[in-house]
Amino acid sequence: MAVYASFRSIGAYAPEKILSNSDLEKMVDTTDEWIVKRTGIKERRIAEKHVSTSDMGAMAAKVAIERSGLDKSDIDLIICATVTPDYFNMPSTACVISDKIGISNVQAFDISAACSGFVYSLTIAKAFIESGMKKNVLVVGAEKFSSIVDYTDRSTCILFGDGAGAAVISATKDKSEGFVDIHASADGSYADFLVTPAPGSVHPANQKMLDEKLNFVQMKGNETFKLAVKTLTKDVIDILETNNIKSEDIKHFIPHQANYRIIKAVGDALGMREDQVVLTVQKYGNTSAASIPMAINDIYESGRLKEGELMLLDTFGGGLTWASALIPFAGKTK
Ligand code: UT7
Repeated sequence: MAVYASFRSIGAYAPEKILSNSDLEKMVDTTDEWIVKRTGIKERRIAEKHVSTSDMGAMAAKVAIERSGLDKSDIDLIICATVTPDYFNMPSTACVISDKIGISNVQAFDISAACSGFVYSLTIAKAFIESGMKKNVLVVGAEKFSSIVDYTDRSTCILFGDGAGAAVISATKDKSEGFVDIHASADGSYADFLVTPAPGSVHPANQKMLDEKLNFVQMKGNETFKLAVKTLTKDVIDILETNNIKSEDIKHFIPHQANYRIIKAVGDALGMREDQVVLTVQKYGNTSAASIPMAINDIYESGRLKEGELMLLDTFGGGLTWASALIPFAGKTK
């Protein structure tokens, strides 16, 4: 009998500390007006110094597992999507999270697909579950982006924030609960659009790396913006057409929260009404791999997300990578 992957629960963690646009006005040559007009962002959350990516991921994971109604011993795979891992080489952040939430002896690994990391991880969870290899996969998207942001660079420091989200993806025999469709793609010829040059094998950690600030994120913002609008619009139209689903059948359009203008352009191209579009960019900024699960958690906690409702996810990020998914929420309504 066929087995399907279902989206069973969601959880998230947002640090308490707020970095507002007026705080940034005191740090770099910018204004609240410019930031709001160009990005829609009003504030973002910043983790305390002693809080790591895995700390935030573990907090989100605990909530997601509790809401799934499962015991943590039922989880048989942990995937963490992050580009701000606790350690750049090893151990993986997923391994550190497994220890922090008290799950041992299960497969755990990280994936690196920048802002597309969470949806990329959902494709992996689906493949493991539908092949029969795993039953309950914990997918975490967690970022301490403040650890790779140069707070003297106005072109990037206004955009990013910290946080984590997590979901439990479980096997089901009920096709109506299963993922409708999901796909992920990449084009490495645009690798230099969004890059943290060091440390790595190209630029190992050394004094030059620090002097030239190669350990901070660099972005060709305007070029990335234009490509994001073009690619995402095509991508979401494709996934809807392939599955013969109309935009009005989507209850929640949950795009990656990078820039309100990108979300608006793609939403308008699809003919989405305002009440279908989930927005958290104004309060969290761009939290990369955590952005989509934090947004799903937002509508779950406010009681907007109900059992069986169809979500359309879309995301775009460093690599360049992008992904879209049509997934019904198979968890219990809050
Ligand atoms: O999550 C992964 C994917 N990421 C994205 O999708 C992000 C995509 N990019 C963006 O969101 C936008 O490109 C930005 C918000 C980063 C920039 O907005 P933009 O409308 O593309 O502005 P721009 O880079 O073309 O810059 C316009 C002007 C420039 O000044 P000049 O050359 O016209 O005099 C910049 O120097 O705005 C200036 N500028 C700023 N001014 C005030 C750049 N950053 C700032 C700032 N405050 N923070």
